[in-house]
Amino acid sequence: MEQIRRTKITDLLKTTETGQIVNVKGWVRTKRGNKQVNFVALNDGTCIHNLQIVVDVPNFDESQLKRITTGAAVSINGEVCASTGSGQAVEVLAKEIEVMGDCDVDKYPLQPKKHSLEFLREIAHLRFRTNTFGAIARVRHAMIFAVHQFFTQKGFLNIHTPIITASDAEGAGEMFKVTTLDLDNLPRTEEGDINFKEDFFGKATNLTVSGQLEGELAALAMGEIYTFGPTFRAENSNTSRHLAEFWMIEPEMAFYDLNDNMDLAEEFLKFLIKYALDNCLDDLKFLSNRLQEEEKGKKAEDKTMELIEKLEFVLSNDFIRLPYTEAIDILKNSKPNKKGKFKYPIDGFGSDLQSEHERYLVEKHFKKPVILTDYPKDIKAFYMKQNEDGKTVRAMDVLFPQIGEIIGGSQREENYDKLYNRMTEMEIPAEEMWWYLDTRRFGSVVHSGFGLGFERLMLFVTGMGNIRDVIPFPRTPKTAEF
Ligand code: 4AD
Ligand code: MG
Repeated sequence: MEQIRRTKITDLLKTTETGQIVNVKGWVRTKRGNKQVNFVALNDGTCIHNLQIVVDVPNFDESQLKRITTGAAVSINGEVCASTGSGQAVEVLAKEIEVMGDCDVDKYPLQPKKHSLEFLREIAHLRFRTNTFGAIARVRHAMIFAVHQFFTQKGFLNIHTPIITASDAEGAGEMFKVTTLDLDNLPRTEEGDINFKEDFFGKATNLTVSGQLEGELAALAMGEIYTFGPTFRAENSNTSRHLAEFWMIEPEMAFYDLNDNMDLAEEFLKFLIKYALDNCLDDLKFLSNRLQEEEKGKKAEDKTMELIEKLEFVLSNDFIRLPYTEAIDILKNSKPNKKGKFKYPIDGFGSDLQSEHERYLVEKHFKKPVILTDYPKDIKAFYMKQNEDGKTVRAMDVLFPQIGEIIGGSQREENYDKLYNRMTEMEIPAEEMWWYLDTRRFGSVVHSGFGLGFERLMLFVTGMGNIRDVIPFPRTPKTAEF
């Protein structure tokens, strides 16, 4: 076969020029036709659209054409022609065909028909080859790029924080242990405890739940920084919004108070959503149609807003900002609370908000994204700045429709004594976190930050309903396949 430089399908579909000979490579989605002519839909992952290959059957070996099946990898040299069919401007008339990789089509799990998302999770090694997961992979990349672009434009530095750590940044005890000790023969201290002095790092270590604490160290010298890394939580919650391994973006800024922090969070989310609309429209349109198809049977009031409309809606509205105490009043007096419709009834100050409450506020009451502030200190982490009232902390959670909490953050306690006392109260080992406390002794300043759960953002932008479908290889309780 003649060697011609490969043209990507996304680029080819943008041309209107015809007559040139090109090479395309990809995987066959479908083949249809008759004894005279075959139409092959080819996809190479570069865009949602397939390229139509027209094959004049008499010009090729029958045995070779048989090998062009759904799933096969092919390389095709051919002429770009104006397409007579609808849906695309150009197609390729095949001159030479090479089957690069045959596909055992009887055993191939991806048949050209609709498969359930649950089934596709079981074949996550192949699900990239579907329209839905191809679109999600491209949107995910665009969002990663947009995160770095946003912060780079603002002069923030990207800091890599450790993945293996000895501290529990959130103090919630939901950590995966990291050890090289022989689990069948653990070394013991005289008291009978496991002797972590003999472990790889000479102390007990775990996978990080957040890069924040190290992020703060950097911010208190560099000014404005952000991290973007994997985080790990061994919380045994098998929900459609929790992963055991997820990616988090954590900006941390010196000289920012809670209001500055909220401004940044709102600007950041809007930037990302606008970036998706500006750069991923083909994929978003596909995902929107998919969603509408899925919701066809539902009652009007149970249907979600059309995806692109929903994204534009968030862009064009200011987020509501409101203290936790006021949110509790709204929830306490709400119909679902009075009628006992909430799984977790709200009885007053101190109640932790579940996603049913967060979604009620956003979807039913305000009908806009909401930032709740000043939560009770007892339901928030030790590092948050304590308010004068002695009861609340300068926390902020950004709540989104369909998602609930998408961002969690706060102004940080910069006063050494207050931080130390709170750590002691909450049984956080202050001695082991001497390095964190040191920043409060050496030039401490007002500072703030937040964490955006990247997969929660992906849920919102793609309209997908389950977090297992917006990360290529999800890690959840009892599943770590692939
Ligand atoms: O609210 P969280 O626990 O906050 C922190 O970790 C802070 N250290 C952030 C900071 O201030 N720098 O988590 C932040 C966000 C949540 O709002 C949510 O979007 C996401 O991370 N998140 C999860 N996403 C997927 N699966 C899980 N198990 C998640 N837990 C939290
Ligand atoms: Mg949180």
